[in-house]
Amino acid sequence: MNNLNQNNKDFSDAVSNWFFTSGRNNLPWRKKISPYRVWISEIMLQQTKVNTVIPFFKKFIKKYPNLQSLSDASEDDILALWSGLGFYKRAKNIFKTKEIIKNSFNNTFPKKFDELILLPGIGKSTAGAIMSIAYGKSFPILDANVKRVISRFDNIDIKSKGAIKNLWEKAEAYTPNKNIFEYTQGIMDLGATICHSRSPSCVECPLNYSCKNAYKKFDISKRNKKQRLTKKINFTLAHSNETFLLFRKNDKSFWESLWVPYDNKYNLKSDIFKQPEKSQVQNLSHALSHINLDITVEIFDYKKPFKIETNLEYQWINKQKINQFGLPKPIKFIIENYV
Ligand code: ADE
Repeated sequence: MNNLNQNNKDFSDAVSNWFFTSGRNNLPWRKKISPYRVWISEIMLQQTKVNTVIPFFKKFIKKYPNLQSLSDASEDDILALWSGLGFYKRAKNIFKTKEIIKNSFNNTFPKKFDELILLPGIGKSTAGAIMSIAYGKSFPILDANVKRVISRFDNIDIKSKGAIKNLWEKAEAYTPNKNIFEYTQGIMDLGATICHSRSPSCVECPLNYSCKNAYKKFDISKRNKKQRLTKKINFTLAHSNETFLLFRKNDKSFWESLWVPYDNKYNLKSDIFKQPEKSQVQNLSHALSHINLDITVEIFDYKKPFKIETNLEYQWINKQKINQFGLPKPIKFIIENYV
């Protein structure tokens, strides 16, 4: 993998991983996912904030839970449910789209991006959101929140010539093939809850490790403890009676090439590990030159080593030989004190 791809992967891993722990999992359109529900929610969310949309979405879905129930609704029926939400063209577009789906798609929600983008009210970003959230397909999105996140991360002036094209290119490059559901919703949530337009909470942002604006504009570069950025990492340290399972770190952000426990960002569901005999959790903080690390290590005890399904470089390292490997200080500390 070249560096450029690794950087893109770091970006998407950071976003998906953050969504898993800090995303807004309770939003009503994130439950009982269907293309229809994603479509209605995405249209409502186009020009309106999440908290305003929630009651309107619930009311709409209660009356029209699926495409079939919507198929005989009149434009006035839909407008009545939209009343108070504003930007009524969106309601009219919902009416037009459901008519097209009824007449040309056998009343089945279209599955292809090229079909979605031709429907009234569905542009490139909304089609991308439906493809990725409802169908789990890798398509980029670029709504106002995502524009803000990427433009800050890459220092792109949104108003400059060619900015939109540039932002789409970045959005495409960052969009992963894996965990697309988590990534898409994660980047939306990050824009809405962390990367605020006026006062972003860069300290909590999973992209602060390399955001071009986190350090510059928001005055958090000063080397005083309070203002330093904090990155959260979740490791799983598996060990058997005689060995530690360690992985060679291959990204450049810090500790490059050192040996560390399994970083859970690589597998959101952590299903590469078998049930351990015993487990415990340890937390510690560690200051690097530019950021603080907030480290959680889950320690799994096993009788014997076992095979791991992964593309990462790993070894079950004999405990007697651990000093022959480069380990970061806090990992050494954990090993020496808790295992
Ligand atoms: N803004 C646009 N689409 C959204 C979604 N699915 N969740 C939260 N905010 C959004």
